[in-house]
Amino acid sequence: MSKLWGGRFTKKTDQLVEEYTASISFDKELAQEDIQGSLAHVTMLGKQGILPAEDVEAIQDGLHRVLQRIKRGEIEFAIADEDIHMNIEKTLIDDIGPVGGKLHTGRSRNDQVATDMHLYLRKRVVEFVGLLQKLQEALVGQAKENLDTIVPGYTHLQRAQPILFAHHLMAYVSMFGRDIERLQDSYKRINTLPLGAGALAGTTFPIDRHFVAEQLGFDRVYENSLDAVSDRDFIVEFLSHAALVMMHLSRLSEELILWSSTEFRFVELDDAFCTGSSIMPQKKNPDVPELVRGKTGRVYGDLMGLLTVLKSLPLAYNKDMQEDKEGMFDTVRTMQGALQLFAPMIATMKVNKQQMRQAVNQDFSNATDIADFLVGKGLPFRQAHEVIGKTVLYCIENNKYLLDLTLDEFKQFSPLFDDRIYQVLQPEQVVNARNVYGGTATVQVEAAIGRAEQQLAQTATWVEEYLEKSK
Ligand code: ARG
Repeated sequence: MSKLWGGRFTKKTDQLVEEYTASISFDKELAQEDIQGSLAHVTMLGKQGILPAEDVEAIQDGLHRVLQRIKRGEIEFAIADEDIHMNIEKTLIDDIGPVGGKLHTGRSRNDQVATDMHLYLRKRVVEFVGLLQKLQEALVGQAKENLDTIVPGYTHLQRAQPILFAHHLMAYVSMFGRDIERLQDSYKRINTLPLGAGALAGTTFPIDRHFVAEQLGFDRVYENSLDAVSDRDFIVEFLSHAALVMMHLSRLSEELILWSSTEFRFVELDDAFCTGSSIMPQKKNPDVPELVRGKTGRVYGDLMGLLTVLKSLPLAYNKDMQEDKEGMFDTVRTMQGALQLFAPMIATMKVNKQQMRQAVNQDFSNATDIADFLVGKGLPFRQAHEVIGKTVLYCIENNKYLLDLTLDEFKQFSPLFDDRIYQVLQPEQVVNARNVYGGTATVQVEAAIGRAEQQLAQTATWVEEYLEKSK
């Protein structure tokens, strides 16, 4: 059989053009969604009396058979049939005869492809919320194990103030929590039905778009037919949310890489998540976080790529828009891979509490607290800052830490010091003194973990409910 749109043509398509314009090599990933959309469409055509019941039944049976054959890998898609939509239609017609040609009544590939993309992406969004929730669970699990682990907190990658390692991990729980919120919010925009917009202007057939929406679980239909077929905002939005997820993963990757270096030795990643060197037998490389950090770049690229494709496109559909798919599939695969690995990698990570403690003992990250002590005694903070700066300099010159100084040594810098400072300087005291909502004091971190666990349970319920809805 010739092309489904061959009527107007007198010449065969150039072979190179065929290859250049075909999307079947990648949009075959949409086969299931395409058939799902077609089943709803043809059911509606029957309900509206646009097609007789026996035709509807023949098409429905045929579509189910085509789907089974695709799933079994029995169908060889053809470049000559351009994309998944025409490959499926052609297979259907081959299977049930010319009646299969009635499926496309009142529909265009433009509203069809947009519908497929919405069906595809809403499932992925729910799965990603689930994957992010699993990662949060792993982070919360480690946080609970490390409520007594004190580690230097850094600014400028210089030791700043001691914090609980649990507090550090919980920062990532908050970050991934925002990612979850963003994805959940995007669902309502993704869950809007374009079908029924036709090529661009609607259709002359008395279709029922709301019935199709209801069958497919869409909450609403696009208001404007031109917008329905031209809108790819929902993919841009997904890619930008993905870019943020990857940015967060990349920051965590960077920390894991630093922490597992010999210079830090704060954590050890499980052997299952590391690789060796082909020449240096001693090496254990953190390849997974390194690759995640690296692959963040391609997700940013996918986002910029699509934004650039869409920029300046006139309404309505343009073939340029076929370029929306590969980047989206690439981002889905890249982010899936990263999240699937990260949760177990975090859960199995060994935390070297002793090494962290040693780092805390050998630094000046308690300096702010003795400055605050002097402030408590009435010294203006600026002067206290100056006094402690000099004290630290003295320590550095004499190869000591603050806790090594005698009271007499302290008193050289200010007569306001008394022996309570030794208590004030203890890392536990320094941490627990930051007892504000969101601070690093143990009680605050425990409370944060409690809130996170409630949120985790809510997210799990959402995922369960929406996995069903987005099927
Ligand atoms: N393969 C096309 C795409 O992905 C489907 C829509 C084609 N529409 C058209 N009028 N040529 O964008």
